[in-house]
Amino acid sequence: MSIQIRKKEHVDLSVTRDVFYSKKTGFERYDFVHNALPEINLDEIDLSAFLLGREFSFPLFISSMTGGYSEAGAVNEVIAAFCEEENLPFGVGSQRVMLENPDQIPSFSVVRKHAPTAFIAANIGGAQLPGGLNKENITILIESIRADCIIVHLNPLQELIQPEGDTRFKGILEGIFFLIENSGLPVIVKETGAGISADTANKLIGIGVKVIDVAGAGGTSWAKVENLRERQHEPMHIFDDWGIPTVDCLRQIAPLKEENNFELISSGGIRGSFDILKSIALGADFTATAQPVIKAIIDGGIEALRSLVNQWKKESKIALTLVGCSNFSEINTKHLVETK
Ligand SMILES: Cc1cc2nc3c(=O)[nH]c(=O)nc-3n(C[C@H](O)[C@H](O)[C@H](O)COP(=O)(O)O)c2cc1C
Repeated sequence: MSIQIRKKEHVDLSVTRDVFYSKKTGFERYDFVHNALPEINLDEIDLSAFLLGREFSFPLFISSMTGGYSEAGAVNEVIAAFCEEENLPFGVGSQRVMLENPDQIPSFSVVRKHAPTAFIAANIGGAQLPGGLNKENITILIESIRADCIIVHLNPLQELIQPEGDTRFKGILEGIFFLIENSGLPVIVKETGAGISADTANKLIGIGVKVIDVAGAGGTSWAKVENLRERQHEPMHIFDDWGIPTVDCLRQIAPLKEENNFELISSGGIRGSFDILKSIALGADFTATAQPVIKAIIDGGIEALRSLVNQWKKESKIALTLVGCSNFSEINTKHLVETK
């Protein structure tokens, strides 16, 4: 099966089937501490946030998802146009397909036509890095979309369940280091839903990774997606719920920020404004979401995406007021109470 067909199957399954973890993100373990005397005016709440030195309108990254087959270009166009209008960062899906098949470059490069000034992340799998990505390929990844940074996704769970998965994981850390040394751009390392532990984070920070996106468990389960694929004759449902819940990743990794210079993105199961607020309160600098965005686009195009994010922004303003914070940098663990 070609990578293009596989990518299309992934998108179709993630918007039509139950591909979610049964286990929760952990955000449900917290409630906000209500402030009956906020001494703040709603219209003065500032939702802006910084990542990699750039200011955005809201701490929400549109996670890497698609590219590399014909309809993918249309989805990328919508994401690009929306992020340009809203000043939000976004990532394209894995560019491996484009490196192997240059005909697919337009389904990625289309993003710059619609987002000439937006912050755009390139994307490549860790599994493609050991002894793989040479300097020429690194240049193609970056130049095809005039990328502002590069995301490396780690997905050993998915590769191990996928019938055609790449199951050689030796040398990925060295491959990430090579990318950092040779790309001239900041590198973000993310998981794809099974989470990043403190041990893994320490290794990444040690080689100069600037941003860690935990992509923890509680949202889209890539074991479930792979187990539902038609090609999957030997589903292994025992792994459907494998992974570290997003909140546990944040609680393990956020304390490392005291002694190390990196930024932390909370993702994996971000499904609303409260998840965003709780993430930042627990020490994340930014958040990211994937499945709700692709679902909104397929159901209702850019209008549906606009209304989803505008709703999250509106609710965030109200919730920040109700905890007595005038912006995201003021919210912290004192504004949360553990309920479970
Ligand atoms: C349809 C789809 C395709 C995806 N493709 C990629 C990809 O190419 N590269 C990547 O880094 N992550 C990819 N992801 C993973 C997401 O970026 C994200 O880490 C994961 O889905 C967890 O977030 P969520 O619970 O908000 O969906 C994809 C997710 C979806 C739903």
